[in-house]
Amino acid sequence: MEWGGGRCHGAAVGETNGGGGLLERSEQLAELRQAHETVRSGRGGVLVLLGGEAGGGKTALVRRFRAECRTSRPVLQGACDPLYTPRPLGPFLEMAQDAGGAIGELIERGAKSYELATAIIRDVRERPGLVLVLEDLHWADEATLDVLSLLGRRIGALPALVIATYRSDEVGRGHPLRRLLGELRGAGTRRLSVGPLSAGAVCELARSHGRDGTALHRATGGNPFFVTEVLAGDDGEVPLTVRDAVLARAARLGPEAAAVLDAVSVTPPYAELRLIEDATGLDEALRAGMLESVPGGVAFRHELARITVEESLAPHRRLELHRGVLRVLLGEPEKADPSRVAHHADAAGDDEVVLAWAPRAAERAAGSGAHREAAAQYARALRYATGLDPAARAGLLERRSYEC
Ligand SMILES: Nc1ncnc2c1ncn2[C@@H]1O[C@H](COP(=O)(O)OP(=O)(O)O)[C@@H](O)[C@H]1O
Ligand SMILES: [Mg+2]
Repeated sequence: MEWGGGRCHGAAVGETNGGGGLLERSEQLAELRQAHETVRSGRGGVLVLLGGEAGGGKTALVRRFRAECRTSRPVLQGACDPLYTPRPLGPFLEMAQDAGGAIGELIERGAKSYELATAIIRDVRERPGLVLVLEDLHWADEATLDVLSLLGRRIGALPALVIATYRSDEVGRGHPLRRLLGELRGAGTRRLSVGPLSAGAVCELARSHGRDGTALHRATGGNPFFVTEVLAGDDGEVPLTVRDAVLARAARLGPEAAAVLDAVSVTPPYAELRLIEDATGLDEALRAGMLESVPGGVAFRHELARITVEESLAPHRRLELHRGVLRVLLGEPEKADPSRVAHHADAAGDDEVVLAWAPRAAERAAGSGAHREAAAQYARALRYATGLDPAARAGLLERRSYEC
């Protein structure tokens, strides 16, 4: 992430708020509207690849656009998980929960990427004008990228608008998304980005909080998340880093709300309420705007805040929280997602559970074509396999090398 500098220039920002609460996004909104119009008028599908740094305003832009579309056409949305080893096809599973129908069942029974892409294409043709939003592709599993590649290559002939967001500062050389971005250059593909806010826009935001925007713009480089976090903290200080801003804001909460933040911080992308052992402080955390309600539970308003709180946890506290989550998940093993159980078991240092569930997660990932994630799950199991007999270890090694 880059944080630059700048100065306020009086009130020269009157025209910046062309995006209904969003500053300096009218151009991007106009592009999205135009792409949507292309699709609606039957001139072919469009894939919009929306890049920007973490906290740069990708989600806010898409939300704003979705709010406009909702009245005319259905919008389906799914996000990739910020887990070290993400759930295979996670964003499509999320979409299926909204849309119902055959797609969810296909994923559950381990359909391959091309089968899923075929089903989506069929669905899209039956419902022209559909908008699909795939968020945070920099975290995508291999199978999700395969599906997007298949859709992207046919987008010109599909009556759909697909918007895919990603952190442009996280897809360096060797990142799996990099290759896909290189491949998707056809006529139906458009690139869009959200940049930092100007000094004028930061001043406009700061003014409504009675704050001086020049110092704020200098400290934040115009990153919207950083700016809004500092202003929400509103204690007159300008923190030096995003981390300081988030922690200063969290420090204003009472102990019960802080405990809820801790609990939610270890369960990305969101926590079902049953995973929060003591929810006494939940209302306060929601009121303070650090958490928000999402379908199925509660989540941090932003992944940058979640990761800051998680990283601030003392090791024993983190361990205790993961153990708690694991206990709840294993209370209903038939409902549990294997990659999630393996994640929490790993973080809780529970070798028995890792050895039982990581291979299960690996098999499921391999079944969907997420071979990179399958290999990572076998590698996870192998880290806990010192006590296994040589034949069992060799079995894991062999399956891992098969997936690599
Ligand atoms: N153009 C903008 N003007 C004002 N605030 C913004 C703008 N873009 C984003 N924000 C605010 O900044 C925060 C982070 O934005 P978000 O869209 O979640 O970032 P990203 O998805 O790129 O990580 C949100 O609280 C959002 O309301
Ligand atoms: Mg986002």
